[in-house]
Amino acid sequence: MTRRHTRTAAGIGLVSTALVLGACAANNPGGGGDSTGDAGGTLEIVSWWTSGSEAEALQVLFDAVQEEVEGLEVVNAAVSGGGGSNAQQALNARLQGGDPPDAWQLHPDGQLASYVAGGQVADLTEFWEEHGWADIVPEDVDAVQQIDGVYYTVPIGVHRGNVLWTNPEVLESAGVTLDESTDLDGLLEAMRAVDESGTTAVCLGDKDIFAASQVLESVIISHIGPDGWRDLFTGDLSFDSPEVREAAEIYGELLSLANSDHSALTWDEAALRMADGECAVTLMGDWAYGEFVNAGHEPGTDFSWTPFPAAEQAFVYVGDGFSIPASNIPNEEAAHAFLTLLMDPQVQTDFAAVKGSIPAVTTADTSALSEYQQSAADSFQSDAIVSSIAHAQAAGAEFAQTFADAVTTFNGNQNVDALVTTLASAQDSQLG
Ligand code: GAL
Repeated sequence: MTRRHTRTAAGIGLVSTALVLGACAANNPGGGGDSTGDAGGTLEIVSWWTSGSEAEALQVLFDAVQEEVEGLEVVNAAVSGGGGSNAQQALNARLQGGDPPDAWQLHPDGQLASYVAGGQVADLTEFWEEHGWADIVPEDVDAVQQIDGVYYTVPIGVHRGNVLWTNPEVLESAGVTLDESTDLDGLLEAMRAVDESGTTAVCLGDKDIFAASQVLESVIISHIGPDGWRDLFTGDLSFDSPEVREAAEIYGELLSLANSDHSALTWDEAALRMADGECAVTLMGDWAYGEFVNAGHEPGTDFSWTPFPAAEQAFVYVGDGFSIPASNIPNEEAAHAFLTLLMDPQVQTDFAAVKGSIPAVTTADTSALSEYQQSAADSFQSDAIVSSIAHAQAAGAEFAQTFADAVTTFNGNQNVDALVTTLASAQDSQLG
């Protein structure tokens, strides 16, 4: 059923929800064992990759598996909504109904642990061992694909969550510079100066709340340092501590310097506004890099970047990967072919080129990736690595939801007290 292939550059194409790719329009769950013997059946994949660059990157994966498995139709069951909460909701309903897709996108560590606790994801340990994958991923990546020593997921790439994307022209006309030597105070000063110059300082699009959660987590990490951030998840530091309160105040000020329609915009709309010069900066994971380039913006000219200002640099790790269901898998053979291809170094490079991430496997050739991605790869090797809570990696789905809800409430009432006490009590009850 599989055939040899030569990998080519990224395939280009927009996909939409539940679009069937391939010759036949029938979604045929259980189509693994096709009766004609020469077709691969269907492979249904759930993800939340629907923005321009995300859809194009997803297409790279679909093209690869379709090239590998003869006659395979790919059913793109992507659900729009950056950060994935809509997709996760839709997926959970299907998992509970015993109707899983063949594979789904997820974050490792915390989010993975929630699926493992629900008995929903297949044990991939033998699969990992058979392919020797532990030898070709960095330790930080390897560790989070497992829960209690069992592998349940496969990584397609590494994103950085804490990048400040900047508009060089807007910064220049406000007479400010932002670079790696800028700290949080410097950022606030610069943002006030942009505001005084009459331009919106911060572009934010938190229609999907993860975008605001990321700003808050980035501020906290910058303010308390990577060790402090880790301590929040081991219980060694309380969310209701003076340092976290100060960080929440800083977040509140940044929010007051953002576009007033932020809750009506998606992350990609806000990022493109920034590149169009309607504001000075936007904090977003480096999937924004893919989005800028996809929209035709020139790196270094139309937009630039710096790690989110901090005294001590940290790389906020947002991992992307896929898992397959523990039971009722419609097309196991195709799902295994898909997982295997995800770890193909050329597929990882082609995917990263479009997505803005860096490959998760060390055997991938990164030499042709962009200057930004080279800097992200360096930082992933040299800076402290911490996990994102905005993307349910630092802790499980329950705490991540509490964090997101607390940010939504704070955005409405700006009540620092309520924010930190909510998080501290969830820390006590949910992180134990
Ligand atoms: C993250 C995911 C990224 C990106 C982003 C916005 O959760 O890791 O790949 O797609 O959401 O949708």
